[in-house]
Amino acid sequence: MNSTYKALWLENGDLVVIDQTQLPFRSVTKVLKTSAAAAIAIQDMTVRGAGVIGNVAAFGVYLAARESNGDLATIKELAAVIRRARPTAVNLMWAVDRLLKVLEKASTQKQDLVEVALQEAIAIADEDVIGTRNIGKFGCELIEAIAKTKPKGEPVNILTHCNAGWLAIVDRGSALAPIYEASDRGINIHVWVDETRPRNQGANLTAWELGQSKIPHTLIADNTGGLLMQYGKVDLCIVGTDRVTRCGDVANKIGTYLKALAAFDNHVPFYVALPSSTFDMQIADGVKEIAIETRSADEVLYMQGLQDNGQIGKVRVAPLETTALNYGFDITPAKLVTGLITERGICEAAETAIAAMFLDLIP
Ligand code: MRU
Repeated sequence: MNSTYKALWLENGDLVVIDQTQLPFRSVTKVLKTSAAAAIAIQDMTVRGAGVIGNVAAFGVYLAARESNGDLATIKELAAVIRRARPTAVNLMWAVDRLLKVLEKASTQKQDLVEVALQEAIAIADEDVIGTRNIGKFGCELIEAIAKTKPKGEPVNILTHCNAGWLAIVDRGSALAPIYEASDRGINIHVWVDETRPRNQGANLTAWELGQSKIPHTLIADNTGGLLMQYGKVDLCIVGTDRVTRCGDVANKIGTYLKALAAFDNHVPFYVALPSSTFDMQIADGVKEIAIETRSADEVLYMQGLQDNGQIGKVRVAPLETTALNYGFDITPAKLVTGLITERGICEAAETAIAAMFLDLIP
């Protein structure tokens, strides 16, 4: 690998990221030169999606090592700021902890901590590239099996929520990886894209990603999925996730749970795609133990988009005196999940099955 990934890359030792707040209207990149800049980029959602958050965190620890000339105590202080940038996606904490563990060891061996941090951050991203390819292959088998049951010329209709493509995890995404693989294999597919209010990651990012790859898709309002399922117009749901407990409860973008309920009621298979770095084996009960991010009420009270004057702007969609509540994620209980599509294979969302496939991750 050459440390160049679709959503982020290194340039002259600095980290460059796609500014996802500007998509799909503008193609803007940001250069992150310090660990504080990395933390802010995660917090203000310049970058988002569990995997990419983890990557930026890991490269952020490298930047911390660089700005502190490899002083471990300072690196730890700066890394703690990155670790707190967002609460729900466990890849963030996992990546920071992995870097610090490697740096601890390297410091006892008097190694160059800047170089060690850089190589470990690259290793994580390289693993994601391979992992997402494998998620794609395993997930595609599900799509292929459904395609075989379809009348000639009819596509496999897949519903997805939020953005779990290459903008969210390098280099193929999690939920979109099987879709990209199916498209590469020439399988006839069509994707229902939930707009994903309030930040519209579906409308802004997933629709854009699929469009770039010329994959047929239709944008739908978040509440449309249930009716489509009742009409038999959804063959399969695939979503990504920000944290999965050892019992298979799934945290993902707000609204995922309602889609899982509708899928369950309509006997539509509901799969969750993830790399193993998204498991949190320390916890069992998603509702009780996963910290759900609460974001600004303004994201609900206003909508952002392209104005007629070509500027990105926002308009208020609620009365001036109305207040709003904005939870970023929800929990889909394991019982509603048909299976977990991982880089090691498809796993039942249940404690024993997860333990059998991911024994090495159990602390
Ligand atoms: O708030 P976001 O945009 O970071 O939320 C992203 C999601 O919920 C994705 O579905 C999730 O990160 C899985 S993709 C690796």
